[in-house]
Amino acid sequence: MDSFLIKGGAPLHGDVAIGGAKNAVLPIMAATLLTPEPCVIHRVPNLSDVQFMSKILASLGAEVKPQGHSLAIRAAKIKGVGDYDLIRKMRGSICILGPLLARQGHAIVSLPGGCVIGARPIDLHLKGLKELGAKIRIDSGYIHVRARRLAGNALFLGGRCGPTVLGTANVMMAAVLADGVTIIESAACEPEVIDLADFLNAMGARVSGAGGPTITITGVKDLHGAEHEVIADRIEAATFAIAAAATNGEVTLHGARADHMRAVLDKLREAGVKIERIGPALKISRNARLKPVDITTLPYSGFPTDAQAQMMVLMTLTPGISIITERIFESRFMHVSELARLGADIAIEGPSAIVKGGKPLSGAPVMASDLRASAALVIAGLAARGSTQVNRVYHIDRGYEQMDVKLRKLGARMERLEET
Ligand code: EPZ
Repeated sequence: MDSFLIKGGAPLHGDVAIGGAKNAVLPIMAATLLTPEPCVIHRVPNLSDVQFMSKILASLGAEVKPQGHSLAIRAAKIKGVGDYDLIRKMRGSICILGPLLARQGHAIVSLPGGCVIGARPIDLHLKGLKELGAKIRIDSGYIHVRARRLAGNALFLGGRCGPTVLGTANVMMAAVLADGVTIIESAACEPEVIDLADFLNAMGARVSGAGGPTITITGVKDLHGAEHEVIADRIEAATFAIAAAATNGEVTLHGARADHMRAVLDKLREAGVKIERIGPALKISRNARLKPVDITTLPYSGFPTDAQAQMMVLMTLTPGISIITERIFESRFMHVSELARLGADIAIEGPSAIVKGGKPLSGAPVMASDLRASAALVIAGLAARGSTQVNRVYHIDRGYEQMDVKLRKLGARMERLEET
């Protein structure tokens, strides 16, 4: 398993291009199962999660052709089941359930199982599909769903932590081919949900209200092929913005959508980070001593849980006390013990981490546990004195395209140690 060896202390400087959003492209790839006609998706990031989803679509009979940062997908015919061995590798693949059910009236998909950041049940996904008339049975680790015709319905999709992003996506994709009108209340409002709705509408669907808590879908008989460019990855952009601030550097993000990152940019400004718009680009630098800020992760448009770990690193470098509360996933503090290895002073109290910041970090070998925690460890290594080795960077390759290459271009002293 590859690792990164980072020599810390070099401020990041220069320009970085932000890629397409992982969390938008995965459900959009699944949505191509809704039509037998060809679809083309542009600005597709080159990530292992995208490769997994491509394998899953191919295992269902779809033709998937990568062309640079574009993907040509055609699911002329669908066969088989959503294979456990593929699905277990990437939870996001659960979003094939809705399209398979809508397209062929039945689907068998492996239960995704939990992951290190939380139990991550899919009860809301199943509740939503049931309210559209699906019969659901769980058997030997597989979900069996069946419905001769899905029927539109008004349903509430809010859960114990608020809306569900992929649950909203699954129900939306099932409802586009259902009879009648579906109204999803307490829908997720993430930009990735809007991007999926835009793609579905480009295929001939009738989805309105995406981006708000109430989404209305008027079912249509069938859908045609479409072409679509995926939105920018707001979490990749947030990660590079925080890395710039943590290393006291100056980085310009090209292609980032500031309107999708308001909560992150707001907290960075509050912490003393300078954010400038240079035409469509965003320049990140520091013009003052950092100030401690408190963060609570919330559904969109609140502070994203996917930027919590990275922001915690910035707070370890900031003199004073900051409290970081995780409200979305019950065990998303895996990075805390690894940051302690670099000398960070963080105490966990229930859903909150109390960060006593300001003490310089010193490099050490650390272990990546999940995608965003690993990105945080890279930022910590860049800011720390001495060398840090981040092991198991396959976690990073799942959600960041060539992170080490992009950081080296910004002056980072880091190399990828490939496992021989
Ligand atoms: C999406 O996951 C993202 N993944 C996650 O990004 C992101 O952290 C999450 O949304 C929240 O923003 C993709 O888009 C592929 P949820 P998703 O359903 O849809 C509970 C990353 O780092 N819940 O919105 O799976 C759930 O346990 C990844 O890129 C239920 O209780 O998340 C959680 O506590 C990590 N029942 C909360 O809701 C359900 O049926 C929000 O989860 C579904 C969810």
